Amino acid sequence: MRSLIIPLAVFGLSLVSALKYRGADFSSLLLLESTTDIQYRASSSSEPQPFEQILKGYGVNLARVRIWTSGTYSLSYGLEFAKRAKAVGMDLMVALYYSDSWANPGYQPIPSGWPDDLEGLQSQVYNYTYGLVQAFNSQGTPIQYIQIGNEINDGFLWPIGQITSNGFDGASRLLHAGALAVRDASPSTNIVIHLGTGWAPSQMSWFFGGIFTSETDGGLGSGLTLSDVDLMAVSWYPYYGTQATFSTLNATLNFLVSTYNKDVMVAETGWPVVCNTEAVPLSEPSIPVGVQGQITWIEDVVAVLNSVNHIHGNKALGIVYWEPGWTTNSALGSLCADVLLVTSDGVAMQSMTMFSNM
Ligand SMILES: *[C@@H]1O[C@H](CO)[C@@H](O)[C@H](O)[C@H]1NC(C)=O
Ligand SMILES: *[C@@H]1O[C@H](CO)[C@@H](O)[C@H](O)[C@H]1NC(C)=O
Repeated sequence: MRSLIIPLAVFGLSLVSALKYRGADFSSLLLLESTTDIQYRASSSSEPQPFEQILKGYGVNLARVRIWTSGTYSLSYGLEFAKRAKAVGMDLMVALYYSDSWANPGYQPIPSGWPDDLEGLQSQVYNYTYGLVQAFNSQGTPIQYIQIGNEINDGFLWPIGQITSNGFDGASRLLHAGALAVRDASPSTNIVIHLGTGWAPSQMSWFFGGIFTSETDGGLGSGLTLSDVDLMAVSWYPYYGTQATFSTLNATLNFLVSTYNKDVMVAETGWPVVCNTEAVPLSEPSIPVGVQGQITWIEDVVAVLNSVNHIHGNKALGIVYWEPGWTTNSALGSLCADVLLVTSDGVAMQSMTMFSNM
């Protein structure tokens, strides 16, 4: 498989900064700063610097942040994060979870205090989203990309918006309520649908084949239309199933672009620097665990995106590395021990150079 990709990597290297976005999701930064004495350095001989400045120095130009309806990653946390990212010149991608805490393909609860019927939820989603998008605009940090939900392979706001229990109708109407609010509050903000198990093209065709309505009403209450969506994004991890290969990534992205003609992005990815691969098989086993493997994984993902761009004309916008500096959570939710791009004491590793290869 990899031998097919190598010529494309060469093609990628011949184009400097071929991808529009070299992204990092460093949502945990303000939490770490307030709960630990973490100091980040660009190299072992550098003075400490704010992490966003180090990322910027390595070429990151897109900051992704998660926002929950309560708890740590609140709206005020997101606003503070946005000020920091924008101050170093990054664009902003907000992942709206519509949950009091985490949300993923297997967990999408309705936030506490929200209505539990479809009509009430549509109104709540609209109001919440509208107010949130406006808050970013009014502090002078407008959002470039906003996800309506996070990893919503089976919908969100369960059970009302759960596809496998309620069909596509509820999820479609709730997504439209969020999209409509974004369009009303901030016409220049791009709307993102983000799925988790992006290595399965059949899940993509199941989800997108059912989620759109042909209704033309467009008001609050109607379903999601293709024009509500600007970007289709996937998470692409090597340690949550061995199907997440470059070949399936290529198939998935080509399917999405050729079927829907929208921009696409790898909105979350990572590669371990420490991992017991006997316990956790990786999807591209020829790539070594470690710093060089992190660089190689990203180079090969870039090669796939460049290939999509070569065929379809710059539809693959970029890559976001998930939580490169979360030193108190180095496994990042995986069964590998360490997926970070910094050492445990906050020094950038050689793999930080991956951003300049994107
Ligand atoms: C959303 O806002 C509208 C207008 O202010 C209000 O009538 C409606 O009750 C709100 N919906 C919810 C669920 O709070
Ligand atoms: C990716 O998929 C496209 C479209 O199916 C195909 O033309 C191309 O050769 C594939 N690239 C790789 C590297 O497999």
